[in-house]
Amino acid sequence: MSMTSNEKLKGWVKEWADLCQPDSIHWCDGSDKENQKLLDLMVKSGMAVKLNENKRPGSYYFQSDPSDVARVENRTFICSEKQEDAGPTNNWSDPTEMKKILRSMFKGSMKGRTMYVIPFSMGPLGSKIAHIGIQITDSPYVVVNMRIMTRMGKVVLDVLGNDDFVPCIHSVGAPLQPGETDKKWPCAPIESKYITHFPETNEILSFGSGYGGNALLGKKCFALRIASNMAKKQGWMAEHMLIMGITNPKGIKKYFAAAFPSACGKTNLAMLIPTIPGWKIECVGDDIAWMKFGADGRLYAINPEAGFFGVAPFTSMATNPNAMLSCKNNSIFTNTGLTPDGDVWWEGIGHDIPSGTITWTNEKYDAASGKPAAHPNARFTAPAKQCPVIDIDWENPAGVPISAILFGGRRPGTLPLVYQAFDWNHGVFMGSIVGSEVTAAAIGLKAGVRRDPFAMLPFCGYHMGDYFGHWIKIGENAPDKNKLPKLFNVNWFRKNPEGKFLWPGYGDNVRVLKWIFERTEGADIAMETAIGYVPKEGSIDVTGLNDVIKNIPELIKVDKNEWMAELELINDHYAIFGNRLPAEMKKQHEGLVTRLNKAK
Ligand code: OXD
Ligand code: MN
Repeated sequence: MSMTSNEKLKGWVKEWADLCQPDSIHWCDGSDKENQKLLDLMVKSGMAVKLNENKRPGSYYFQSDPSDVARVENRTFICSEKQEDAGPTNNWSDPTEMKKILRSMFKGSMKGRTMYVIPFSMGPLGSKIAHIGIQITDSPYVVVNMRIMTRMGKVVLDVLGNDDFVPCIHSVGAPLQPGETDKKWPCAPIESKYITHFPETNEILSFGSGYGGNALLGKKCFALRIASNMAKKQGWMAEHMLIMGITNPKGIKKYFAAAFPSACGKTNLAMLIPTIPGWKIECVGDDIAWMKFGADGRLYAINPEAGFFGVAPFTSMATNPNAMLSCKNNSIFTNTGLTPDGDVWWEGIGHDIPSGTITWTNEKYDAASGKPAAHPNARFTAPAKQCPVIDIDWENPAGVPISAILFGGRRPGTLPLVYQAFDWNHGVFMGSIVGSEVTAAAIGLKAGVRRDPFAMLPFCGYHMGDYFGHWIKIGENAPDKNKLPKLFNVNWFRKNPEGKFLWPGYGDNVRVLKWIFERTEGADIAMETAIGYVPKEGSIDVTGLNDVIKNIPELIKVDKNEWMAELELINDHYAIFGNRLPAEMKKQHEGLVTRLNKAK
């Protein structure tokens, strides 16, 4: 039964129900009872396994279809009216044509299934920075995940009232004929998957996949691709960034946001345990930041999500204890291994695989086969409030004031451990050239380093050249330029010629965060180079890291030849944006050429 008097919403649900022809419609109230009913239903159908209550209370295990294990970038489309508005980094399709295709795909696609209507808020309910979406889906797996990842249910409808919402339509694309038994993980073949966005009308239509960013539409589809369009029109920012609080030994607290491409350790950094005494890190979010200027002229960020959808492999009590503790109960595990005593296991979890463990492909684990127990993109879905270091203000509707923004990727060479931009526009240049090694989080990519500007390559819902322009405008329109966050680039992944990492990473990254913290206070600990400000000798606190001290010169080195080669690559990267590359970016590039030519 409908729980709303919002006529537009009721009409929209009816329109899609008429097309998709589900057996029934269920409006999600978000209650514990509803959640348990859905989980029980999935256990009964064989889709879910309830984990051992003594080991992993309130938690469930899923295995996806082997064809449905990650975001599908080559099946993801931005359907703007004009092709040039999607830009060269997005797949584009004409909105009218795509809707025609999708209407035929959605026709009857929910036969034999229930259509769930999920009202959800991205951001704390009632926050001025938050936005409401309604997702319809035929996947109960999506419902229980959305309940962790967003604020979901009846309360959202109460806040929405008769206002507008972002419509999100989802089907796994596997209708059931009468009497047909369901597959464990229903989905459509790869060529029938469509993850589509309509930026002019703020609509999302996703067909054929039940996995992660393809199906939990609040996350990448809404909070990044559609929200980046809304943000551009309305003068705010929707970014692929973690948000963290950092407190120094004197008790002074600041907030940083950081953009890294997928699978570069955002979740680890967002909740790291510092290795230097007196410093504290607290987590506001691990994946997405929405930012707006506050009345005091500072840039404030909220985490639009309410949970973590983290990569499980190589998460352990050694690499990220706070993530491990976040998913110790009330969590969902997808495509990990399943142990005989009803717990989960993955490569790099920190202990040997129990004998008799079942792999994500539902086979008995066999080391000799060379096949892993967990898919490299296996995930945990965990409530953010369970994170032991969740920040006290993580749900503050006003957001948290950002003092520094960090960019970074996996770069074995060229980029130093840390450097600071001269000013905002130089920082925009820095963000525009972010690059990283390709990850397992997306299917259909060539291996190697790819440019991933601002870590937004798969998530910017419009022309990337215009997106650089939007960043420049944010700087120009800032109510007080002195209060803009300071911009930095970090690179934890620099290697020596033998291919060994020069920096220990993980909890020791706080040493770099400390340097950044002090720079935001104007400390005289930096030296000017052609590329920006790098740490002065001795200014990175490496107390106790005796093996690393000798690596510091190599870690902060700015090599003229490497940078000259990089500039060529940046030229190639910029060429694809044509005349939509802001003149300011060319100016920044030329400025770097001039400074490097002058450098020794
Ligand atoms: C993610 C991603 O899942 O960036 O967060 O791919
Ligand atoms: Mn991400």
